Amino acid sequence: MGRRIIFTGGKGGVGKTTVTANVGRALARTGKRTVLIDGDVGLNNLDVVLNAEDKILYDVGDVARGRATIKQSLVDLDENLSLLPSVTACSAFVTREIFSEICKQLSKDFDYVLIDSPAGVEESFLRAVGAAEESVIVATPHLASVRDGYKTGRILSSMGFSTQGLIINRIRGDFVLDSAMLDAGDISGAVKLPLYGVVPEDDYLNVKNLCDFSDKKSASAYSFTLIADYINGTDKKLYDYLSPYRGLSGLFRRRIK
Ligand SMILES: Nc1ncnc2c1ncn2[C@@H]1O[C@H](COP(=O)(O)OP(=O)(O)O)[C@@H](O)[C@H]1O
Ligand SMILES: [Mg+2]
Repeated sequence: MGRRIIFTGGKGGVGKTTVTANVGRALARTGKRTVLIDGDVGLNNLDVVLNAEDKILYDVGDVARGRATIKQSLVDLDENLSLLPSVTACSAFVTREIFSEICKQLSKDFDYVLIDSPAGVEESFLRAVGAAEESVIVATPHLASVRDGYKTGRILSSMGFSTQGLIINRIRGDFVLDSAMLDAGDISGAVKLPLYGVVPEDDYLNVKNLCDFSDKKSASAYSFTLIADYINGTDKKLYDYLSPYRGLSGLFRRRIK
């Protein structure tokens, strides 16, 4: 059975969808069969981020109503990478039980089922997390996000999640070196979760949503590759977000920024 992992974190806009999509792509590149599913049923955007809108025939709502099978609804995105879309307007049909059962069925055919969580901690969040066995909190280095990450982690612990990790998104090494931003260790300590990875602020990611794995200089692509290795358990290296800003050239880069 594949691993069912929810990417969550309380706040909207911290990068849950971006991280789910890119970690999924990175895992697929390691040869793991990976399926992505949007837990924000009805207010979906994972399909948009993945440029998959035009390829959707059926979705999770059709599966819930018996109009299509899971197999018919899957969109092939890339080698080893699929999406189960959640575009339905009738999200009421997709109960917690049905959503959870669909994810369990997916875990029979895939190594990873990655669930993109909606914001908040209400019903749609509970539906999404109810389908997962492991959780990853996505937080930015901002205090409000760190606090929400901590609270969400506590809620998940109380729900019985024993395997939990943290991904810090949008960190800026120049700000950290200038003591204007919390560093990754401090954030991990405050959220009280082990760090699975760090993703730097990246203009390319902001505009395109998907990092460019073919660009050897792409810091975000490298950081997602490291996160995939961390989740696979093949390597435990974290992206060094300070390295571009160290030394004389780093100082120059910081001043220019
Ligand atoms: N590391 C990053 N660097 C730059 N922009 C990012 C990064 N991660 C996310 N973003 C941008 O932040 C916005 C919100 O991200 P999104 O993944 O939709 O958040 P959420 O799913 O938590 O609401 C998007 O415009 C996205 O492109
Ligand atoms: Mg989202």
